[in-house]
Amino acid sequence: RQQKTEDLLFSAGILPVVAVDTLDQARHVAESLLEGGLPAIELTLRTPVAMDALEVLKKEYPGVAVGMGTVLTIDQIGRCVAAGADFLVTPGTPAHMAEALATAPIPVIPGAGTPTELMTLMHHGFRVCKLFPATAVGGLAMIKGLYGPIPDLKLCPTGGITEATVSEYLAQPNVVCAGGSWMVPKAWLDAGEWNSVRDAAARAAAIVRQ
Ligand code: 3PG
Repeated sequence: RQQKTEDLLFSAGILPVVAVDTLDQARHVAESLLEGGLPAIELTLRTPVAMDALEVLKKEYPGVAVGMGTVLTIDQIGRCVAAGADFLVTPGTPAHMAEALATAPIPVIPGAGTPTELMTLMHHGFRVCKLFPATAVGGLAMIKGLYGPIPDLKLCPTGGITEATVSEYLAQPNVVCAGGSWMVPKAWLDAGEWNSVRDAAARAAAIVRQ
């Protein structure tokens, strides 16, 4: 399962972190990201429509890998799995969550922000983790620092990464993918600027291919 998680993130390269307010926004975002060349998204549970958006996307856009993000409770794990989520992402992973996530039937990218937390996740069997909030906990220097003692742990840094900085992150040997919301800012979603989303996704996909 860890290999499957790593493969999924590696093939995505960049993971857009999306928060939608309506199902229509969800459809447009999925379509625009797909057009731009990004077939995987982290759909966050930060808005009331998120669970419905998951079901709509799985039904209407089978080509999009929809991971559910901002998973904060054990209850949400079960609901996301039952609704067809392709993978799960957490911003942080307390012990009770780590235990529940370790037995989830789909790939999981558990969040952590310190070496101790990352080592605890490795103890639970995880080899791919989300470093969050990446820039706030040390950014590139943190990632380089982690590579020395725990080179086998693969990271998906997220939080504060931009189009201008993402390639430096992807160039690190322990970075398998990078996440961020710069391709899908709320202002564009609210204004229906789907071409902007598509173009930002296309630039991100080009960075991944480099
Ligand atoms: C997340 O939940 O992963 C973050 O909100 C994404 O961080 P960013 O908005 O700074 O890219």
